Amino acid sequence: MQLGADLVSRLQRARRVVVFTGAGVSAESGIPTFRDRQSGLWCNCDAQALATPEAFERDAALVWGWYEWRRSFVAASEPNAAHRAIAALQGRVAQLTLITQNVDDLHERAGSAAVLHLHGHIGRPYCSACRSEHALPPAATSTSDGGGRLPPPRCSRCGGRVRPGVVWFGEALPALEWEQAVAAARGCDVFLCVGTSSVVEPAAGLTRAAIAAAAATIQVNIERTWLDELVTLNLRGPAGTILPELLAAVWPDTR
Ligand code: OAD
Repeated sequence: MQLGADLVSRLQRARRVVVFTGAGVSAESGIPTFRDRQSGLWCNCDAQALATPEAFERDAALVWGWYEWRRSFVAASEPNAAHRAIAALQGRVAQLTLITQNVDDLHERAGSAAVLHLHGHIGRPYCSACRSEHALPPAATSTSDGGGRLPPPRCSRCGGRVRPGVVWFGEALPALEWEQAVAAARGCDVFLCVGTSSVVEPAAGLTRAAIAAAAATIQVNIERTWLDELVTLNLRGPAGTILPELLAAVWPDTR
């Protein structure tokens, strides 16, 4: 990997590093991203149209079934080399903040601690009436059609309708996580933006905040994004290949 001596030394000297991830990081684990067509496998639906409070109001069984289908992908998946490289980075820099838009737990399963989940967790549904957490049985690990439409369970406390524990379009991000993410992006020396199309706000604003704060910004993606011209460096290719190469080039002792 050709990085240039200046950038390598800047990365090696960095004390505060932010890694900001999107669905592309989990793609190599077999979890469909949002803007590919795989959401059409069983319902021919647009993922963005399903991830809204209005969709759940209109057709709760369709939305719940879709999230159960995605949960089955997560249960059947293992962390990949990108998740592992990010976890390994933890021991190499003084302060690492990991911010993800992903609702899976693959960063945690790879060994990352204190992950800021901006868009919630697929495995932590809660009651839409009283907001109590609702324990789910282990997901079926089939990656087929996930059973299609499925009525959501009822809350054992109040009988309200249980909803997925994710943040939908039009909903506020969890306040504490967002505050911590913004502070980390504004205060970092290096910002790695990995496997995200950066089209969903306000999360995409984190990279802009790091650019404004004059951090070294590195984007890892298999495709171009609108950030290509704005970041310090674009590393084109799958995160599971690029991140281990980046670590080997900058922090050769990383395990
Ligand atoms: P997207 O599906 O929008 O984008 C995935 C990005 O990952 C694309 O830019 C791909 O080019 C890239 N990609 C795919 N495979 C990759 C790989 N192996 N290595 C590196 N890059 C790869 O997913 P997000 O950007 O995460 O929000 O989407 C952001 C949010 O929009 C999601 O959290 C979700 C969604 O709608 C909500 O549900 C609120």
